[in-house]
Amino acid sequence: MTYDDLRSRIEEIIDPGFNLPFKDVNGIKKLVIGPTGVAELEIYLKDKAKNEQAVKIQIIRLVKIELGFPGIKIEFFESEFVPEGQKAIKYLAVASGKGGVGKSTVAANLAAAMIRQGKIVGIIDADIYGASIPYILRLPIKPLTSTADEKMIPLEQNGIHVISTEFFMPPEKPIMWRGPMLGKLLTHFFNGVQWHEGIDLIIIDLPPGTGDVALDVKTYAPTSKVIVVTTPHHNASSIAVKAGLGAQQIGHEVIGVVENMSYYFNECNKKREFIFGQGGGELVAKKLGTTLLGQIPIGQPQQGHFLFDGKEESGKIYNEIAVKLIDEMNL
Ligand SMILES: Nc1ncnc2c1ncn2[C@@H]1O[C@H](COP(=O)(O)OP(=O)(O)OP(=O)(O)O)[C@@H](O)[C@H]1O
Ligand SMILES: [Mg+2]
Repeated sequence: MTYDDLRSRIEEIIDPGFNLPFKDVNGIKKLVIGPTGVAELEIYLKDKAKNEQAVKIQIIRLVKIELGFPGIKIEFFESEFVPEGQKAIKYLAVASGKGGVGKSTVAANLAAAMIRQGKIVGIIDADIYGASIPYILRLPIKPLTSTADEKMIPLEQNGIHVISTEFFMPPEKPIMWRGPMLGKLLTHFFNGVQWHEGIDLIIIDLPPGTGDVALDVKTYAPTSKVIVVTTPHHNASSIAVKAGLGAQQIGHEVIGVVENMSYYFNECNKKREFIFGQGGGELVAKKLGTTLLGQIPIGQPQQGHFLFDGKEESGKIYNEIAVKLIDEMNL
């Protein structure tokens, strides 16, 4: 059994996510035969969470039992292959160090601003313990429907397609029931959702800090870009730097910083008041080697609205940020 024979046998195995052989979907990331004859494999797999176990058994059976190799080491990675004629889903994760700096608010308003630019946008609400996108969007929660192949269909509000752990929980369920169960659910948000077929971007609203969820994003959306939200205050910005460095360390590209609650515009004297200090956004951008995309003032959308529209001051700033990101991400 030569290396080439082994390789061609593995290439024949079907990646169930694509229903195509590994040969046709660049499925083999690495294949070497070690000095002791152990086959060392790294495989790209679509819908890894769902398909890994079955494919693993199939490969082990082939390599060890059928082909008689003394051992096998095998590791799986989410496939980045895009079949011809299909569009790759692009992801943008919104991260911060501290909680409460406005990630979810920025994620929702950024989605709205992108839609104003003619894009089709979804949000994965990845904050298991503090899901807030459905509330920000005043999204009436109803049971999800699914496609024939059991993919969940997101709910929609103002043209924003949303998937959230909140959709799966009875409203009064205590928080300790949520973690383990919903953590698993999160992995399905990356491969078990039927997004609108023309979707241009999926924004991932992360929980605060650099935790498990950030690592999950690396696993399930390896090419996701990241933006970091901070306030101008030193406390928030120093932790935001850590979150950004964490994201960079696991291999994400941080493509910008949004400074939120930058100032309060005093209508009486027409001056900006820097209630939370100044300079945080600039500092974070500099330390992460990226740019400050925009500074959002303190304020709420006009009465009766839950998102800024494109004519309000904050809405215009979100428009500018959206245009920069559309350009940067080639959307
Ligand atoms: N620019 C702003 N001006 C005034 N209030 C704001 C602004 N941005 C966010 N807020 C408010 O601050 C609170 C926290 O915002 P948000 O939930 O978006 O933060 P977060 O970073 O997602 O929080 P968490 O870490 O809990 O996920 C909300 O009540 C929100 O309405
Ligand atoms: Mg949030």
